[in-house]
Formats: sequence, structure tokens, C-alpha cells
Amino acid sequence: MFKILSRREMAQGTVVENVIEAPQIAKKAKPGQFVILRVNETGERIPLTMANTDPERGTITLIYQIVGKTTSLMKTLQVGDAFMDIAGPLGKPTHIDNIGTVVCIGGGTGVAVLHPITRGFKEMGNKVIGIIGARNKELLIMEDEMKAASTEFEVCTDDGSCGYHGFGTDLLKKRLESEKVDLVVGIGPVPMMKFVCSVTKQYDVPTLVSLNAIMVDGTGMCGCCRVSVGGDTKFACVDGPEFDGHKVDFDGLSQRLAGYMAEEKVSMDRFTASCNCSCKE
Ligand SMILES: Cc1cc2nc3c(=O)[nH]c(=O)nc-3n(C[C@H](O)[C@H](O)[C@H](O)COP(=O)(O)OP(=O)(O)OC[C@H]3O[C@@H](n4cnc5c(N)ncnc54)[C@H](O)[C@@H]3O)c2cc1C
Ligand code: FES
Repeated sequence: MFKILSRREMAQGTVVENVIEAPQIAKKAKPGQFVILRVNETGERIPLTMANTDPERGTITLIYQIVGKTTSLMKTLQVGDAFMDIAGPLGKPTHIDNIGTVVCIGGGTGVAVLHPITRGFKEMGNKVIGIIGARNKELLIMEDEMKAASTEFEVCTDDGSCGYHGFGTDLLKKRLESEKVDLVVGIGPVPMMKFVCSVTKQYDVPTLVSLNAIMVDGTGMCGCCRVSVGGDTKFACVDGPEFDGHKVDFDGLSQRLAGYMAEEKVSMDRFTASCNCSCKE
């Protein structure tokens, strides 16, 4: 069992952070890697990236958006409760080198995935420009953490309630026009990553994205997480989750992500009908 040591709600309760006791995973995990967990014996397996790890304390931090049945169930767990099983670290770690100037741009809960990568590039001696965005001020997450992890930092919101009024890709474009950037790491919703890649392609700047394909086993056996990259079929769980964004078939990924929407809705409806906790509010 993997005990929850602390719990925090963010973005008006739409995102939850759990610090979890998992010493073996914390010892081995590197930026960019994820875990697959089950809440209980009948629970589905879902992948979540480690937003932070503390090998000395033996903890991992998961930050997740409440989008369906499993994440709603997870939201009901309190400090002292435990996950039934957590497998990891899984996936290839981010290749972090001293390459010069790196822009790390994140949207939504992608910021949680981006945070350890941003910190890793800065610790390696790169100039790191962090850019994070959300629809509005209330939905921004990890502003302080990303600021600390970056050399320079900018925030944007769609409605202008915090920072630049507009999209992160506007800020990215300005950077690409004004200075030499050696790498862009873009993590967030699929349309955002697609847009980031279309911008960086115009400037011929290498771009890494982290793909949130649907996963089951996380070890390369079921084929569920297959994605098309440069015309080749790759398994996001073992070949990724990070890939060269200029080669990713984002439309194919979006189609596969939406493949079980009817079943997900039924599952969520059953859950809300049977659950008496605050997740219905
Ligand atoms: C490598 C990886 C890392 C991820 N890291 C994070 C993270 O740090 N924070 C975060 O909020 N989310 C993360 N996700 C997405 C997260 O796994 C899904 O939001 C979660 O599985 C939704 O489950 P649900 O039952 O609550 O929602 P559902 O209603 O079952 O599904 C809602 C949507 O979530 C996606 N999804 C559903 N099941 C899976 C699955 N087994 N695998 C992947 N996606 C699924 C689909 O797009 C689906 O339409 C990550 C995904 C991957 C592949
Ligand atoms: S999740 Fe099964 S092959 Fe990747």
C-alpha cells in the first residue's frame, strides 16, 4: 500500500496534489518518468507523471486533474488513506544536457509534468525560460515552483487576469524572434502541443513534447499507447513519453484519446450516482 502523506487542492479544486510514501520509486525516478497506479483492487490502471520526488524522505508527488471516474475517486482520498498499488518509475527519462537556452512551456496540468524537467535543465547549467498558462488566474498551477525552476519566467492567461493577456505561444514566438533558443519543451493539452510545434517548426527549433496516450500496462505489451512518430509506430510508455514534436501525428493521438468517451461517461455517471462525497459538488 502507498500512503498519502499530504494533500492539497489547486485550481479551485479541479487539480489535486498528493505526496505519497513510495521509497523504492523515489530512489530511482528521474525527470520525465511516470507511474501507473490503481486506487483499489477493482480500480483501473492510470498513468501519472511524478511532479516531484524526494529520495531522502522516500516520497513522490503526483498532481492530477479531475477529469473522470478514477481521478474523481482519487480526489476523495485523504491524508492517511493509501493507493493499492503504484508501479514505476516507467518511461524513458528526459535527456537533460547542457545545450544553451531552453524554453519550457506548459499549459494546464502539463505544468506539473514540465516542472521537474525545467528544474533539471536549469541544474545542468542551461538558461531556462519558463512560460506557463491557463484560462484564468484561478486555474494557474505551480507558479512559484516554476518561477524558482526557471532562469526567466513568464505567465499568461487567456482572459488577462494574470500576466500576459493571450496564449503562451505568443510569448514563445517573441522569444524565438529575439534570441537564439536551442530547445523547446512543450507539455500540455494535445492542441496546445500541436500549436507549439507548428510555431517552433517555422523557426526550426528542436521541440520535445510529452504524449499522454491512453495506457494500460505501461511496459510495452498491450499496444494501447501506440502513437505515430515520423511515420513509425511507437509505444508512448516505453519509447516515450517524450518525442520529437515535429514528427508526432497529433490528430491521430487526439482520435485515440477520444476512443472510449462513451464508456468513460457511463463509468463517471455510475460513480457520481453511487458516491456521497463532495466530488459531486
Ligand atoms: C504518461 C502519462 C502521464 C500523465 N500524467 C498526468 C499528470 O501528471 N497529471 C494529470 O492530471 N494527468 C496525467 N495524465 C493523464 C491521466 O492519466 C488521465 O487524465 C487519467 O487516466 C484520467 O482517468 P479518469 O478515469 O479520471 O478519466 P476518464 O473519464 O477515464 O478519461 C478522461 C480522459 O483521460 C484520458 N485517459 C483515460 N484513461 C486513461 C489511461 N488509462 N491512460 C491515459 N489516459 C487516459 C483520455 O483522454 C480520456 O478521454 C498522464 C497520461 C499519461 C499517458
Ligand atoms: S501501455 Fe501497453 S504498450 Fe504502452
